[in-house]
Amino acid sequence: MLELVFATNNAHKLEEVQAIVGEAFVIKSLNDIDCQDDIPETGVTFEENAKQKTDYLVNKYGLYCFGDDSGLEIDALNGEPGVYSARYSGSRDMEKNIDLVLERMGDHANRTARFKTVISLYLNEQQHFFEGSIEGQIIKERRGIDGFGYDPIFIPDGHDKTFAEMSAEEKNAISHRAIAVGKLADYLKTK
Ligand code: IMP
Repeated sequence: MLELVFATNNAHKLEEVQAIVGEAFVIKSLNDIDCQDDIPETGVTFEENAKQKTDYLVNKYGLYCFGDDSGLEIDALNGEPGVYSARYSGSRDMEKNIDLVLERMGDHANRTARFKTVISLYLNEQQHFFEGSIEGQIIKERRGIDGFGYDPIFIPDGHDKTFAEMSAEEKNAISHRAIAVGKLADYLKTK
């Protein structure tokens, strides 16, 4: 059975990917390979950050692997917070990050935005990218308590609930991450 390292220690992400990919591949975490390193994420695009993760593992361990990077792009803020989504306000405190987005958006009429995920895969000496995105709108006040990150202020197009008002199943059926992981899984099934 082929082993693939996922450049994460997020157990939830790991389970989600293993479930979609099925039994053809064993997915290992960074902990599983005893990698405690703080892998750099200094790129200015999701692609660069995702590839930094796989480049790091390939160079250090010579392993087949994949890594992801996600974030929220808001058109009225010229694509911000983008690759800086996790620390937009300078801290990882998501309350502060959301407050900053709401403050910068103010009453701006254009509220279009999208969540994006890019996955970088290194397998059989080849580099591949898989992308998922979901379009939506930034609302003016938080709604809902589920999910994480910017979920309370994002309503995906064609829906009337924020991501934070949806169940995990509802969100996972349409999310940027699910789309990218689905593409990765489809590709792996051909291997
Ligand atoms: P990561 O690359 O998946 O760790 O995502 C980076 C940051 O983007 C997170 O810390 C969140 O702030 C934001 N983000 C990514 N995906 C989501 C999502 O599904 N909902 C809300 N925020 C997200």
